[in-house]
Amino acid sequence: MPNFKAKSIKELTLPFCSNGVEFLWKAYNENVILIFTKVEEESFFLQVKQDNQFFIIKADKHSKPSKITYLQKALLCFKENFCNEIVSESFAFKKNALDKKIPLIAYDFNEVLEKIQNYKKIYIEIGFGSGRHLLYQAKTNQDILILGIEIYTPAIEQVAKLALNQEINNILLIQSDARLLLSVLQKQSIDKIFLHFPVPWDKKPHRRVMSEAFSKECARVLKSNGKFELRTDSYEYFNYSLGIFLEFENPKFDIKKNEDLEISSKYEDRWKKQNKNIYDLIVYNLNSFDQERSIIDFNLQSIHFSKEQLKLLRNFKNQTFKYKDFFLHIENFYITSDSLVVKIAFGAFNKPEHAYIFLGDKCYFVFKAPFKTLENLKAIEEFKKIIYYENRLFS
Ligand SMILES: C[S@@+](CC[C@H](N)C(=O)[O-])C[C@H]1O[C@@H](n2cnc3c(N)ncnc32)[C@H](O)[C@@H]1O
Repeated sequence: MPNFKAKSIKELTLPFCSNGVEFLWKAYNENVILIFTKVEEESFFLQVKQDNQFFIIKADKHSKPSKITYLQKALLCFKENFCNEIVSESFAFKKNALDKKIPLIAYDFNEVLEKIQNYKKIYIEIGFGSGRHLLYQAKTNQDILILGIEIYTPAIEQVAKLALNQEINNILLIQSDARLLLSVLQKQSIDKIFLHFPVPWDKKPHRRVMSEAFSKECARVLKSNGKFELRTDSYEYFNYSLGIFLEFENPKFDIKKNEDLEISSKYEDRWKKQNKNIYDLIVYNLNSFDQERSIIDFNLQSIHFSKEQLKLLRNFKNQTFKYKDFFLHIENFYITSDSLVVKIAFGAFNKPEHAYIFLGDKCYFVFKAPFKTLENLKAIEEFKKIIYYENRLFS
């Protein structure tokens, strides 16, 4: 990551603005100074850290800008205006991931949310593997966006290349755990969800994609005429999923055994060679179930702190709270002229997020709000409870 070392730094009189770079305010603790920096449309923290007799200046890794040239500009501006003797400098940087972007692949949830707005109909395929079924769906439904969610990165790149060779444009692939991605989608926005040959995890059912929570997310995101389609060689998985969907108020099912589809996936071919049975469980009419979430937004506006309360908050530093499906770690506090900034890690165990929150007479995320996954929403709700609503330090 681009950085440089200086022997000393000048007094930081902020705000400061030069050459399109704005240093607006700072927050600090005993180890580090964070400088809130704006270049064009992006904001991030530059970090100044003392290391023996030097100061190291670089981007804070949890807020760094997506355009690396913005960071370079900010470092250069800081070097020229606030530093005395430069000891070493390494502004050379590896090519940004964005430069290596492969078309048809989404690199974050925002790209998915943006692209799906361009389509009236959306199908999702979870764990598409070699992509045979996904590409077939795309070719036969050219006005529908097929959103492929896969945790295994090489499969994503391979399928994107196959699609480009075949001039298929109506697909979007993302590397993610499908359980997390579903939870950021809008309610009633999806027409079909395919889950074909998921790993059965017979001995560790908690690792399955399918669960009660997942079925509720499917019900929430599917349109009223939307369908969920499971195809599996595991009778146990089929039965387990049927049991879960039977908990809904008025579900409807199509159940088939050994039905041939127009396309056979790589795994399906394998199981057919072994003469295994194949089960289809198609579920619809899930919307009579009340799938509204109890928490729909982060809503930090409902909390605020007096100066005395802010002083006490620092006692929460380095505390971790673990729950069944999410966690919250209060990592560090930074002082500003009249309030505090807290850094937290939180969310799902397999997709932890970091955020800086400004705490004072108003509270807000210093940078953009996290994705509204169920786990993130719950973690921030818990954060509010711990530091504000149930905070015994204040009573
Ligand atoms: C047994 S393979 C089936 C692949 C393909 N559907 C087929 O029929 O050939 C299961 C696939 O699901 C993917 N997978 C497993 N868990 C996942 C999850 N939570 N979210 C997204 N993909 C997942 C795996 O990486 C793997 O590619």
